[in-house]
Amino acid sequence: MKIAVLPGDGIGPEIVAQAVKVLEALSRDGMKIEMEEAPIGGAGYDAAGDPLPAATLKLAQDADAVLLGAVGGWKYDALPRPMRPEQGLLRIRKELNLFANLRPALLYPELADASTLKPEVVSGLDIMIVRELTGDIYFGQPRGIEVRNGERVGYNTMLYSESEVRRVAHVAYGIAMKRGKRLCSVEKANVLECSELWREMVIEVGTSYPEVELSHMYVDNAAMQLVRNPKQFDVIVTGNIFGDILSDEASMLTGSIGMLPSASLDSNNKGMYEPIHGSAPDIAGRNIANPLATILSVAMMMRYTFSREEIALRIENAVKKVLAQGLRTADIHVAGTKKISCSEMGDAVVAAL
Ligand code: IPM
Ligand code: MG
Repeated sequence: MKIAVLPGDGIGPEIVAQAVKVLEALSRDGMKIEMEEAPIGGAGYDAAGDPLPAATLKLAQDADAVLLGAVGGWKYDALPRPMRPEQGLLRIRKELNLFANLRPALLYPELADASTLKPEVVSGLDIMIVRELTGDIYFGQPRGIEVRNGERVGYNTMLYSESEVRRVAHVAYGIAMKRGKRLCSVEKANVLECSELWREMVIEVGTSYPEVELSHMYVDNAAMQLVRNPKQFDVIVTGNIFGDILSDEASMLTGSIGMLPSASLDSNNKGMYEPIHGSAPDIAGRNIANPLATILSVAMMMRYTFSREEIALRIENAVKKVLAQGLRTADIHVAGTKKISCSEMGDAVVAAL
């Protein structure tokens, strides 16, 4: 297993170090794991003047899977847009053709109290959001800021081709087949042509999956339903920007954004694995971040890229065990549990493994 390790910025290096401990423990157990590290985001800009240095992209292209921390930091916010850390992330997604972004929102029973929603609303929650990741308004042309009628206007283009929608729809239906066989497609077809086409394609692809029950929901309603009655959802498929927003919302149902892993896959299940949260510059370097989303991303890597379901379950069970022991980082700490640091959490998961 050749894994490119890209810690990135902010809390990225701290949380990735914990996930690397897990991979090292697995390799002491006899798994053949090769890891190599490279800078991305602000760290890439500092090292090579580019948020996605050529050597980093090459390493990621040659690897079977990529483990990523997070990118972004205040000191880079004033750089011209192409040099900003976020561009490194968007470019590597595009370059590796990672069009299917899987973001599970799963509530661990031990964390029901950490959610801002009532325990009865979220207990047993298990949703999979499939977010399209290489199209939409994130990449659509034309885009820019220019002067029209004596004032500046800013504009972007929301755009999906038939084939882009088809391929992500196939992934979503495939996942629904392995779960509860219910798929909800989220868009804004009452206003946007782009969404109208999205809906048409999702329906068309659905004819190949007659067992899957398909429903459609406008994104504003979906945002509301996610906090009203989140357990109505099984698999959600949606475009890049709606998925960006809804997955942050869904993460809070589970207690903390620090818990949610993600997988970004190409058509051959090569993948990049990262927590859905950002670089959290406000707490960087203090060893208090939650590494569980990153560790759970390694579990997803074992499941989706390496087809090692048993190893994925082993990692997930180790996380459950640590939570059952009452160990918590600050973001999920409640009265009656023990607050521990980022590195202590990594050690606890390795011990449980
Ligand atoms: C995410 C992040 C990124 C995105 C940013 C950092 C570019 O919010 O992975 O959800 O918008 O996709
Ligand atoms: Mg986001």
